[in-house]
Amino acid sequence: MTGDDPREERGPEFEFDSDSDLEDEGEGEDERAGLRTDGGAAGADDVALDPWGSSTVSDYRKLFEEFGIEEFDDVLPEVPHPHYLMRRGVIFGQRDYRPVVEALQNDEPAAVLSGFMPTGDPHIGHKLVFDEIIWHQQQGADAYALIADLEANSARGMSWEEIDEHARSYLLSLLALGFDPEDGDLYRQSTNREVQDLAFDLGAEANFSEFQAIYGFDGETDVSHMQSVVTQMADILYPQLEEPKPTVIPVGPDQDPHVRLARDLAERMRFFKVSTAYASFELDDEERDLVARFHEELDPADFNDDQLRCVHVAETLEETPLAELEIDAEVLDSVLTKLNEAGMEPLRPRIRFSDRRATEDAFDALIDAIDGEKRVYENHIDAFDIDRADAEELAREIEVDNGGYGFQPPSSIYHRFMTGLTGGKMSSSVPASHISLLDDPEDGYDKVKSATTGGRETAEEQREKGGKADECPVYELYAYLLAGDDDEFAKRVYDECVGGERLCGDCKEQAAQLMKEFLAEHQEKRAEVEELLEQADIELESPRRR
Ligand code: TRP
Ligand code: SF4
Repeated sequence: MTGDDPREERGPEFEFDSDSDLEDEGEGEDERAGLRTDGGAAGADDVALDPWGSSTVSDYRKLFEEFGIEEFDDVLPEVPHPHYLMRRGVIFGQRDYRPVVEALQNDEPAAVLSGFMPTGDPHIGHKLVFDEIIWHQQQGADAYALIADLEANSARGMSWEEIDEHARSYLLSLLALGFDPEDGDLYRQSTNREVQDLAFDLGAEANFSEFQAIYGFDGETDVSHMQSVVTQMADILYPQLEEPKPTVIPVGPDQDPHVRLARDLAERMRFFKVSTAYASFELDDEERDLVARFHEELDPADFNDDQLRCVHVAETLEETPLAELEIDAEVLDSVLTKLNEAGMEPLRPRIRFSDRRATEDAFDALIDAIDGEKRVYENHIDAFDIDRADAEELAREIEVDNGGYGFQPPSSIYHRFMTGLTGGKMSSSVPASHISLLDDPEDGYDKVKSATTGGRETAEEQREKGGKADECPVYELYAYLLAGDDDEFAKRVYDECVGGERLCGDCKEQAAQLMKEFLAEHQEKRAEVEELLEQADIELESPRRR
């Protein structure tokens, strides 16, 4: 996903209407059909990627098409021991996750980080993210979990008392589910000075117009809210402070605007931009592809010359019909202008290191470090005997040696939102719609028993046509949580449901029972990790009271 200028990835607006249904998602052919669910949010109205708005997505395809989130399935085969949430398509999307996968495969440094706004009780939606962090930790990544207390205070107006209470509860659940606090890092935004310093630094590369475009901020938006955005940017890049490394941010797709901005800022903080060039002028990606093609094909002898020159390519391009080039007329025009202006300049591929925010020392150090033929200009260096990957590595090394961050663009993975048990969306203001990790096990049982289902009007009809597991919040509970690592069990529930062998009454009874057991066990574990939390390196009480 990283083009030369990642800024181009971002569209100007984030809201879109959802007008297509999920009927034809075509999971039927998939071998894992029984393990996958569409998230069941069919029928929701507008979809907005709004980090502070309501979290529903009714059409996941739009996230791929309009926002450039990539399918998780593209990387799944390479993931070592994939988590069941990955196998079942609950984790459905990703941005640039491959570097993290490769690092995990090769035992190289990698990190995972996510943050939690302590605005209420942790619920089964948070459990997805806890599990994702823990899984990455178990695969060898440095794991970070943070309490977004500054954000809760500024964007949600939570008091510090409430924040402390909820923060503690999130952390207990995280530890109870298996996070190792001795090996991983926990922090709260308000007491992490390094994060705040980094946030300030990053703020220098972002401006208000951009926040306006991304988040819809306006003249009435308070400044603390904006600060909480740069703080989150700093959170996301924090694992790389010690050393740049592939880092994954597991979140819901509502956080994608933050991820994109963080990827942009990571890039903008870099000392050097590394690109491929063919002559003294700059080319964009499309233009470069065109020139590369002709550079490849043309022979200087055909022009009675010993070197291929810019004019040669220009001449050839002018003679080639536009249809054959398969590009827009404007692209051609722009390339021709550049080539003709460069005239007799030889056309030679090279790696270009452009100075973005390098110090003078860093620029000089880079000049010294480049082996082979090189040309130094005011704001860039062209190198002729180095390949792209080595160049990237060298640029990062010089940057880090000279006091820069050398950030790698952070990666992300996205999970589906769970449907509310009462249909519609899961909402913390409707207790019956969601299950809190603190719910009394009996209440959890009752909530599942009264959940809506994808069942038919009558038992006969259900036996005949089968249930609609794909639209059933109870099936989701099985797939997202209750079946745990047992794919066969999840598949059996699915197959029996759609095959008409499973009826909703019994199915809910089984789910309710499993939920009761899960809650009881989880709460027991929470009690057991109290001490572990006390010993962990995180302040549980904020010194702030206002
Ligand atoms: N904004 C996130 C939320 O609303 C919380 C958060 C803060 C976060 N910093 C983060 C999430 C860094 C992921 C990574 O829940
Ligand atoms: Fe849902 Fe179970 Fe009914 Fe199928 S049988 S629709 S999975 S409750």
